[in-house]
Amino acid sequence: MALYSEKVMDHFTHPRNVGVIEDADGIGEVGNAKCGDIMKIYLKIENDTIVDVKFETFGCGSAIASSSMATEMIKGKSIHEAMALTNKAVAEALDGLPAHKLHCSVLAEEAIKNALKDYYDRNGIPYDKKEFPDCEHCAHCQ
Ligand code: FES
Repeated sequence: MALYSEKVMDHFTHPRNVGVIEDADGIGEVGNAKCGDIMKIYLKIENDTIVDVKFETFGCGSAIASSSMATEMIKGKSIHEAMALTNKAVAEALDGLPAHKLHCSVLAEEAIKNALKDYYDRNGIPYDKKEFPDCEHCAHCQ
């Protein structure tokens, strides 16, 4: 079996939603201390719905494919659905990632959560801090 699924290769070579949203309602940036990769997610939110999402990822192919797939999965969804997106769901939607590349999908989950946290902070919306991992100390990236 090839190391990477066709879906991973497709999203890596033709990433969806690449770019910047200038007037974003929430921006999340996370980095993986170990590999040095950085992912930035921009959200445009109207009536609790993610009407647009863009990403910039400086990282490996799996990180780019994960960002692309994750943005596709939350576009048009409610902020609550986006909060519930797990790295596992992203990896499954990509028909799997090699075990040593699973952390790349974690970056996507965390970047989206960070962008939502930024949105909550900007709008004074209360939230449970436990729902947002502290990325620097997150076990996934060790
Ligand atoms: Fe760093 Fe994939 S190797 S995110």
